[in-house]
Amino acid sequence: IKVDPFDFIIFGGTGDLSERKLLPALYFRQCDQQFSEPTRIIGASRSHMSDDEFKQFAEKAIREHVKPEDINEDELRKFIARISYVAVDAKSGDGFDRLKQAIGDSQSIRAFYLAVAPALFGEISHKLKQHDLVTANSRIVVEKPIGRDLISAKELNDLIGADFGEHQIFRIDHYLGKETVQNLMALRFANALYEPLWNSAHIDHVQITVAETVGLEDRVTYYDTAGALRDMVQNHMLQLLCLVAMEPPSSMDANAVRDEKLKVLRSLKRINGQEAPKQTVRGQYKAGASSGGAVMGYTEELGKPSDTETFVAIKAEIANWRWAGVPFYLRTGKRLSTRVSEICIEFKQIPHSIFDESAGNVYNNQLIIRLQPDEGVKQFIMMKDPGPGGMRLRQIPLDMTFAQNFTGRAPDAYERLIMDVIRGSQTLFMRRDEVEAAWTWADPILKAWAENRQEVQGYTAGTWGPSASIALIERDGRTWHEGD
Ligand code: BG6
Repeated sequence: IKVDPFDFIIFGGTGDLSERKLLPALYFRQCDQQFSEPTRIIGASRSHMSDDEFKQFAEKAIREHVKPEDINEDELRKFIARISYVAVDAKSGDGFDRLKQAIGDSQSIRAFYLAVAPALFGEISHKLKQHDLVTANSRIVVEKPIGRDLISAKELNDLIGADFGEHQIFRIDHYLGKETVQNLMALRFANALYEPLWNSAHIDHVQITVAETVGLEDRVTYYDTAGALRDMVQNHMLQLLCLVAMEPPSSMDANAVRDEKLKVLRSLKRINGQEAPKQTVRGQYKAGASSGGAVMGYTEELGKPSDTETFVAIKAEIANWRWAGVPFYLRTGKRLSTRVSEICIEFKQIPHSIFDESAGNVYNNQLIIRLQPDEGVKQFIMMKDPGPGGMRLRQIPLDMTFAQNFTGRAPDAYERLIMDVIRGSQTLFMRRDEVEAAWTWADPILKAWAENRQEVQGYTAGTWGPSASIALIERDGRTWHEGD
C-alpha cells in the first residue's frame, strides 16, 4: 500500500546507521512501489559533499548491504534520483537555511531522522524549530540510547518535547520492528488457545535470551560507557518482556498498546542493593573462541582495564495479579556461544502423572518464540513414541518455522518502522513515559552494582556466560533453555 509523499531527512546521512540500515530499507520500499510522488530523501551531515557525491555514497551503501539478487537496477536508478544532500552543522547551526531552501514550501510529510549521537538531539530539534522547519505533519525519529539513567532520559525528552509534540516523536526500538516480535501479538491475541493459560496459574516462568556472538565491533567508546544493561536490557529486553506480560489492549491503537506496556513496566519489582547480588549477574568476556576463530577478551579489545559488563542475567518479577510468583529470567551477552534471541514460556507441571517410570519423564510444555535466526514459533508437547514398545513419552515440537510456511524475503525491522513513521503510526514506538518507567526500574540496579561493588565475572568467549548465570536459575530448580 502506497504511503503519502514525504521528505525524509537523515541527519548523520553519511554515518553507519544510514549506510547499513536506513538507505537499504528505503531502497526496498522503493522496490515495493510504496512511494508516491514526489518523495525525496535528503542526506544531512557535517561533511561538505555535492548531491552527486552523496548519491554515489547511497548507491555504494545499497550495493554493499543488499544481496546482489535483490538489486533491481531500474528501481535503484529511480531511488537514487530521489536523493540530494545538504551540509548541516548541528552545533553552529550552519546549513539549516540551506536545508530549508532544499525542502522549499513542500506540504509533504516531513520525517527528520536523527541518526546522530544523542548529545545532538536537543540541538537539532531546537534548530529545526528555530528555522521554522517543523510543520504540523513533521515527525522526528530518535534512536537509543535515550539517556543513560532516568535523569538524563528526562532531560532528553524535555529537550525534544519543547519543539515537537509527543505525537510527532518516534523513539525507535528496532526490536519492535522484528517480524516475530509483532507475531507475539498475533500469537497472543489472534488465537483463543493461549490467552486463558497466559498467567501464573499455568505458566511456571518465562525466559528471554538475546545472545550475540559479536564483540565490541566498532563501538568502543559508546559501549564501554554503556554496558549490557543499558545497551540491551533497559530497552529491547524490557520491550519483549512487556509484549509477553501485558494485558490485552483494547485495540492496536498506539496508545492502547503503550498504556498496557507502561502498566507492566510500572509493576516491575525494584531490585535494590540487597536483592541485586541474588537476582543479577554481571559478566565480561575473556579471550576464547567465537564464530570459528580465536578472539580477544573485552579489555584487550578495548585496550584498557574496564568493569563494564558485556553480559547480564536478571531474575525479574512483575508484581501484579497475572504474574505474581512467575519469574522472568532475562539474559543477554556478547561473545556467547551462539547467536540466538528467543522467548521461552514454560508451562507448569501436570498436576499428577498416570504413567509409570518406564514411560520416561513428563516434561513441562514449552512455547519457544524464536526471534532470530530461523524465526518461528515452536510448541513443545509430550507425545507417545510411535511403535509397539509400550507407553514411552517423548517431547515433540509443533513447529511453525517461518521459512517453511512463508516464502519471500524477510524485510528488515527498519523497513516496517520507517513506513510507520510516514503513516504516523506509533504503535511500535516507545512513548516518553515508557522509556522513563524502564529507567526507573534499571536505575536501582545500576546503583546497587555501584554501591555493592558487584564486580563483573569473567567468562570465556564462546560460552554461555559466567557460571553464576546458570546458578541464578538453577537455584530455583530451573534451567536455561538452550537450542531445541
Ligand atoms: C543494538 C545494540 O541496539 O542492538 C547492539 O546497541 C546489539 O549492541 C544490537 O548488537 C542487536 O540487534 P540485532 O537486531 O542484531 O539483534
